[in-house]
Amino acid sequence: MRLLKSFYKKNNSKVELGSETTGKTGKILKHNTNKKKNQMLKQNISDEKLDEKKFNSEPRKIAIVSGKGGIGKTTLAINLGYLLNKEFKMDNVVVDCNMTTPHLGVNLGLYNVDITLNHILKDVSKAEEGIFEHNTGVKVIPSSLKLTDLSEVDMFKLPEKLDELNMHVILDSAPGLGREGLAAISAADEILFVTQPYTSAVVDLYRCRKIAEKLDKKILGVVVNNRKNKNHELTDNEIEKITEIPVIGSIPYDMEIERALVKKLPLSFYNPKAKSNDALYSLASTIAGFEIKRKKTFFENLLNSFR
Ligand SMILES: Nc1ncnc2c1ncn2[C@@H]1O[C@H](COP(=O)(O)OP(=O)(O)O)[C@@H](O)[C@H]1O
Ligand SMILES: [Mg+2]
Repeated sequence: MRLLKSFYKKNNSKVELGSETTGKTGKILKHNTNKKKNQMLKQNISDEKLDEKKFNSEPRKIAIVSGKGGIGKTTLAINLGYLLNKEFKMDNVVVDCNMTTPHLGVNLGLYNVDITLNHILKDVSKAEEGIFEHNTGVKVIPSSLKLTDLSEVDMFKLPEKLDELNMHVILDSAPGLGREGLAAISAADEILFVTQPYTSAVVDLYRCRKIAEKLDKKILGVVVNNRKNKNHELTDNEIEKITEIPVIGSIPYDMEIERALVKKLPLSFYNPKAKSNDALYSLASTIAGFEIKRKKTFFENLLNSFR
């Protein structure tokens, strides 16, 4: 595994980092508040509980799946990768399974990478050799940006290659049920669906779920991304009725997510005070198998006192 930070320092590798990923002062200052904010959220999860979970947990393979593109899969994959590792002791690697239009590496400032998923699937490199550690701690196996690297790639070798990795794997899928999408679903044990609160995106999920079920995969639930809480959006209840999948997370539309992307950083690292951080954090805790007990608001306490 290679550390991007050291690559950057040596400045002699084939890996080119976006200038934004080098941790200029602004971002590092924001990072210092991260621990405090997330510790407040995590107050009901002790270190013992985390250690126990870590000890008992077999490596999991979780595919992030949607019917449509541009829904937030890669964003979610990066942020879950970051939070599960940093806050929930789930050492994991995010793998770019969207090989024809790969964004995972680019979104973290990785442009020219010498070992990619393409090399691994072609038996040129071992799976472990393809892991890059970003300076925020997110581990990734990117796909190649070169079109020529696509030839002779057999996506259906994915399961055997991922089995070589002795850690949790998050698969950032291609949209839909084409060859790439199917390969990611087949290689995973658990499926996390992502949608936006609109009919076209939600309807597609129904078909993806049917396929996942046929392949005997565990359905974790659906995450509704880009919520703006407008009247024309489908409610969680409606989404559950259409897809027959429980909604386990809801991420608000947040400009800070776009800013974090420009800076090539996970949102929770870039700005833990952003409105989407709590939702991402709570989703990560659900996936890790913990329930975050939210502090009741003044009005909830008041209501309870009348019941
Ligand atoms: N909750 C959100 N709020 C604002 N922008 C978002 C949100 N989630 C994703 N985006 C933006 O939407 C775009 C598409 O997201 P991406 O994760 O690349 O989707 P996908 O992988 O499904 O194609 C990116 O520019 C990303 O920054
Ligand atoms: Mg993507």
